[in-house]
Amino acid sequence: MPAESLRSVTRVIDSLTTFEGEGFLVHRPFPTAGLADADPFLLLDEMGPMDLAPGEAKGAPDHPHRGFETVTYILEGAFQHEDSAGHAGALNPGDVQWMTAGAGVIHSEMPSDRIRERGGRIHGFQLWVNLPRRDKMIAPCYQDMPAAKIPEAATPDGTVRVRVIAGEALGHRAVIDTRTPITYLHFTLAPGASVVQPLPPDQRAFAYVFAGAGFAGRDSTPIARGQMALFASDGASISLRADVASVERPLQALVIAGVPLGEPVARYGPFVMNTKEEIAQAVRDYQGGRMGHIAR
Ligand code: CO
Repeated sequence: MPAESLRSVTRVIDSLTTFEGEGFLVHRPFPTAGLADADPFLLLDEMGPMDLAPGEAKGAPDHPHRGFETVTYILEGAFQHEDSAGHAGALNPGDVQWMTAGAGVIHSEMPSDRIRERGGRIHGFQLWVNLPRRDKMIAPCYQDMPAAKIPEAATPDGTVRVRVIAGEALGHRAVIDTRTPITYLHFTLAPGASVVQPLPPDQRAFAYVFAGAGFAGRDSTPIARGQMALFASDGASISLRADVASVERPLQALVIAGVPLGEPVARYGPFVMNTKEEIAQAVRDYQGGRMGHIAR
């Protein structure tokens, strides 16, 4: 593919390491002081990896969301979730939960009982996808996708593998439906391997590297673990190449892309609306118990 059809990297963002909920280690490329959001995406957290001793595991007990979607992707460990709409279930390695909070949901996201009691390793991601104004107050809904149903593909030589969570890659199409066009891919590249991923012209893209090191885009911009590369919209495809001498190998990255909404964003903690008035209403609805509660 000619180099001019590859998108260039406009910025490389270092993630912030912080603690979320009751003390959960996260690496967060955005929102940070340097990058408020990546429209239509509001937040990306890499949870862990962390090794927990028995009794040490913490999560995010009952809390509300309104106006966007939370997408949880587990690599190691196990989580359990419960919510005010009556859903309850487990998330195991490779599973994805795509939760559309819409008008409002209260949920609990905790490491599994087994990990809380016996300890264990936890690693995963949470992505927040903004909803367009027209969809912010829809009824909450879920897509729970077990690992076995998520399409996986590889190049003939096996040096590039991809799990297709949303969108399309290496001839495989995702099974999850999204309300606006979204691409969410988990790439694994052997040292020295490279991939060129075509994207719809209206989708803005970034890559977040969580293992290994390599290069991204037209100018082979260096990118390493914990960094996110933001691509310009100046070409038909994005590209990634794993460093031949990657210390931690192979390179693993999430490639995430979506069509910017271009709407005003008013955010306050777990509520993301278009105006301050809508945020005030969300707080009143939550405090008034109108987002329900988790029946236990
Ligand atoms: Co939540």
